[in-house]
Amino acid sequence: MTRSDESLSARLKSVTWDEHDRTNSAPFIVALMDGRLDRDAYAALLGQSYLFYRELERAGDAWRSDPVVGPFVSDALVRGPALEADLAWLRGDGWRDELVPLPATQRYTDRIRAVCFDSPSAFVAHHYTRYLGDLSGGQIVRSKLRNIYGLTSDGVRFYLFDQVPKPKVFKDGYRGLLDELRWDEPERADLVAEVNLAFRLNRAVFDDLGDALEVDLAGS
Ligand code: HEM
Repeated sequence: MTRSDESLSARLKSVTWDEHDRTNSAPFIVALMDGRLDRDAYAALLGQSYLFYRELERAGDAWRSDPVVGPFVSDALVRGPALEADLAWLRGDGWRDELVPLPATQRYTDRIRAVCFDSPSAFVAHHYTRYLGDLSGGQIVRSKLRNIYGLTSDGVRFYLFDQVPKPKVFKDGYRGLLDELRWDEPERADLVAEVNLAFRLNRAVFDDLGDALEVDLAGS
């Protein structure tokens, strides 16, 4: 198959899968999946996530009525209010006062701010990396949080997509939007490169979280 035969959604997945695997095997994520994080460490993950979702969702608001990338923006995906509710439940009403961006979170939000408001492909790259991930691996994390940590709704609303009853159907629709994009090769290549960068920026946040917290990341 030549590159021009491959759909953009298939290309995006195949070309970024190595970065995906490196990201989901970050020690902090492995500790989360093994049930080795305490509540403070989990809340720290959500706090840092709140900071980059806030920026991403501001960019989404800016593109909402754009004829090309506006269709990617969906109220069903918005995570800000869910993160606010989780953080208030986990940390109490003063959660905002204690929220400080880790250096990697700062780099990630700076990157979103620098490129996602001007470049359609950069916006789609960051949007795809987070939301398709939330609807995929995020749902595996959700079941771990239920089965290992006993969290079913309070504290895990970030992982609950009430308005997406069938994630597979939603993801197929999303891939359809990717495949309908009439972008030339340089723009497609920019999209792929930015997704790879988005994975690395996410991984750096997990690594900073691991370094900042006294979590037994090596396992026991
Ligand atoms: C515990 C960690 C994770 C696990 C177990 C996991 C697992 C998976 C699985 C099984 C899929 C394939 C779903 C499908 O084919 O429909 C997937 C897709 C995806 N994941 Fe993850 N993932 C994790 C973390 C992450 C993270 C941290 C990100 C981003 C920062 C991410 C981004 C994505 C994206 C963008 C896709 C969609 C690929 C595509 O279909 O184009 N994942 N993940």
